[in-house]
Amino acid sequence: MRYKYSDYMHWAKTRSRARFNLATSGVGPFPLAELPALPPMEINGDNSYGYQPLKQAIARKHGVDPDCVVTAAGTSMANYLAFATLLDAGDEVLIEHPTYGLLVDALQYVGADVKRFARREEEGYAIDVDAVRRAITPRTRLIVVTNLHNPSSVLTAEETLRGLGDLGPRVLVDEVYLDAVYQSTPRTAFHLGPQFVITNSLTKVYGVSGLRCGWVLAQPDLAQAMWRLNDLFAATPVHPGELLSVAVFANLDAVRERFRRIVEADRRVLREFLDRETAVSAVKTDFGTTCFLRLLRGGVDDFLASLRERQETSAVPGRFFEMPDHFRIGMGVHSEMFAEGLRRLSLHLRDDVQ
Ligand SMILES: Cc1ncc(COP(=O)(O)O)c(C=O)c1O
Repeated sequence: MRYKYSDYMHWAKTRSRARFNLATSGVGPFPLAELPALPPMEINGDNSYGYQPLKQAIARKHGVDPDCVVTAAGTSMANYLAFATLLDAGDEVLIEHPTYGLLVDALQYVGADVKRFARREEEGYAIDVDAVRRAITPRTRLIVVTNLHNPSSVLTAEETLRGLGDLGPRVLVDEVYLDAVYQSTPRTAFHLGPQFVITNSLTKVYGVSGLRCGWVLAQPDLAQAMWRLNDLFAATPVHPGELLSVAVFANLDAVRERFRRIVEADRRVLREFLDRETAVSAVKTDFGTTCFLRLLRGGVDDFLASLRERQETSAVPGRFFEMPDHFRIGMGVHSEMFAEGLRRLSLHLRDDVQ
């Protein structure tokens, strides 16, 4: 069955918000007024296959050739463009479980035969390269992972990614959360070999989702094929968005630092919460903007419905990650809201789970 919608995205857009919103995934919104200098605006520009200054800024950030860069409307479109270019209907794809649901939705939409490999909570959601090897068949065309892992924020080491790259099929790594490793930020897996295809954007860690500044990193011939396929979709990018994205790249470190303080403060509160609470468990990470919690007793959907009703607090149900005993909470938006949301979650765990 080919679904033409995403239940998760619809829920996120219409039902996720609450006064104490823990149902976020990235940092809060970066205000335009805080950019030190605005570029001269123009409506149209020379961007048939992407605006060169933006491609150069992305290429510089990652230490790659601009010919390897394909710009796209967010990581969402970057993923779709990569899948649609790499895959034909019926091609087998191996993707981690749990994962960001839209990846599975997009793969199914392009007609891929989607197979899974487990990232187990009891193993800290680590990728088991041997398990992936065992799951590969002669029909496997692509392996798909997120790094940092959504929903858990677990970081996969370069050595493990290299191991995936040695298995044969191409490897797509969605790195939209990777820059939320604030110290010794790992380089992109693109450098691990020509079989790697990377997707990313300025959405989750930089707070400029409205610019839809996403991109794919791929070998030049593949990048060219993606630009050609994009002629059927977006044709050309939105030029004012490109100009503003270049301005954000010129201040990238400062924009990231602005949210780092919030993410780090939130993580300290989260640590105390996880150390204290016995009704939930989670893999604790030092990085990232999300945490995936297991509710040890009772049903998550009912729990979250009453959490919203009685405590005005929201979180993302684990069913959207095919893990119905779990729920995901997000950091990096507003520290007082986060602390109060967790306080209310604690109260509700006490009231609800007895
Ligand atoms: C792993 C992953 N990839 C992509 C996206 C979409 O990113 P963007 O807003 O850049 O389209 C998300 C959003 O939650 C995500 O979690």
